[in-house]
Amino acid sequence: MRAKTILVVDDDQAMQEMLVSLLEDHSFKAASAGSAEAALDLIRTSDYDAVISDIRMPGKDGVELLGEIREARPETPVILMTAYGSIDSAVAAMKAGAFDYITKPFQRDEVMFALERAFAHRSLEEENRRLRRAVDKTARFGDLIGNSPAMRDTFALIRKIANTANNVLITGESGTGKEVVARTIHFSGPRASKPFIPVNCTAIPEGLLESELFGHVRGAFTGAYTSKRGLFEEAKDGTLFLDEIGDLGPLIQAKLLRVLQDSEIRPVGGTQSMVVDTRVIAATNKDLREEIKAGRFRRDLFYRLNVIPVHIPPLRERLEDIPPLVNAFLEKHASGEKRTVTSDAMKYLLRHNWEGNARELENAIERALVLSETNALTAESLATENTDTFVKPLEDSLLQTALDRRMTLRELSDRYVDAVLELADGNKVQAARILGINRRTLYRRGDGHEEQPATS
Ligand SMILES: Nc1ncnc2c1ncn2[C@@H]1O[C@H](COP(=O)(O)OP(=O)(O)OP(=O)(O)O)[C@@H](O)[C@H]1O
Ligand SMILES: [Mg+2]
Repeated sequence: MRAKTILVVDDDQAMQEMLVSLLEDHSFKAASAGSAEAALDLIRTSDYDAVISDIRMPGKDGVELLGEIREARPETPVILMTAYGSIDSAVAAMKAGAFDYITKPFQRDEVMFALERAFAHRSLEEENRRLRRAVDKTARFGDLIGNSPAMRDTFALIRKIANTANNVLITGESGTGKEVVARTIHFSGPRASKPFIPVNCTAIPEGLLESELFGHVRGAFTGAYTSKRGLFEEAKDGTLFLDEIGDLGPLIQAKLLRVLQDSEIRPVGGTQSMVVDTRVIAATNKDLREEIKAGRFRRDLFYRLNVIPVHIPPLRERLEDIPPLVNAFLEKHASGEKRTVTSDAMKYLLRHNWEGNARELENAIERALVLSETNALTAESLATENTDTFVKPLEDSLLQTALDRRMTLRELSDRYVDAVLELADGNKVQAARILGINRRTLYRRGDGHEEQPATS
């Protein structure tokens, strides 16, 4: 390891030499200066691991020196030396941001302890900064959060396709972040300053969808008193995000296919077509290949949309994304308060199935933040359904009782058998099945009031 270099500042020559030799005895490198001004010249050109300075010096004093070091090299710890009994200057030193102070005359150990603590503190801060940088780099891309290999691949893919105008098809279960991915593609490319228009294809009745997408002219149909621009035109030079594309009816599929082939739209009832440069990003949680097989989705439209496929795996297959998502959702919904989750809660979050993916996780956190009275959210407060059983506390309490009473194995198993019989409403066949033993074995455990097996 590189020897640490410490700058000693004191106008007292003897003190300077004493400190330098003390430091060198402890395998440090030492530099020295006789005034604050001389010290600042050195600090401007070299980076010291720590500075030890006297406070009382002619010219600039140690506190002023400290102030200037804090500006020029904020991460360099400064230890000030005060004369015995001068509490005022010790207080001034700490207020001005000294890492520590030692009073003269001092023991050699005091200097070493102060330095050791300063180095430990500094390396912790550096580690924190490094981690923060690492998190910034890997766990986030725009609003999109992820640390898993799958998400990092997705980041790289988005970076590439953001600069193209190709159609993109995003697939993934509900709540996996398809819309966030679509926005990230739009907002990290050259179309960012143009509109991003999301359309939920299931939210618009089939009969209205055509005029919503392509517009209509006045009098095109009953009620069309004015002409209206379609969403394709609204999203001109930008991106149209067609969500739930798998639910489009056959008629509109045919019309959409034509638009994608020709890059032109024709409003309902109109005679003129117009060329629009609108990028289409489509998304679905259905398996479109299955839909094609079942005859519900056009193969040719699928190939038009699927020029660049982006698949987002379910959250339960990318556990590395859960901690950064949890942190992001805590920050997003805790309205400025510092809220966390307990380590048990994180364990629960990591093994929950997340059928609803990131959306379900976000909802669970949002609700727990409101309902929970503690700063750190517990596993219980995060459970999303009552089917989530908390086996652990139950198991613990039963085992704890068993331990407290020094139960025999027989006593413990009798209690369990009784509990299962109660659960099964006294139905011994069912209870035996739960217990994994045969019915006769269960009867044999009975206390004599039970019916006896025919043979024994
Ligand atoms: N990787 C992610 N980073 C940050 N937030 C995410 C991520 N994935 C999902 N979310 C959040 O989860 C919620 C659901 O995401 P989104 O609406 O994009 O899902 P979806 O795949 O479009 O779902 P659906 O199929 O139901 O429409 C949003 O609030 C979104 O902000
Ligand atoms: Mg969506």
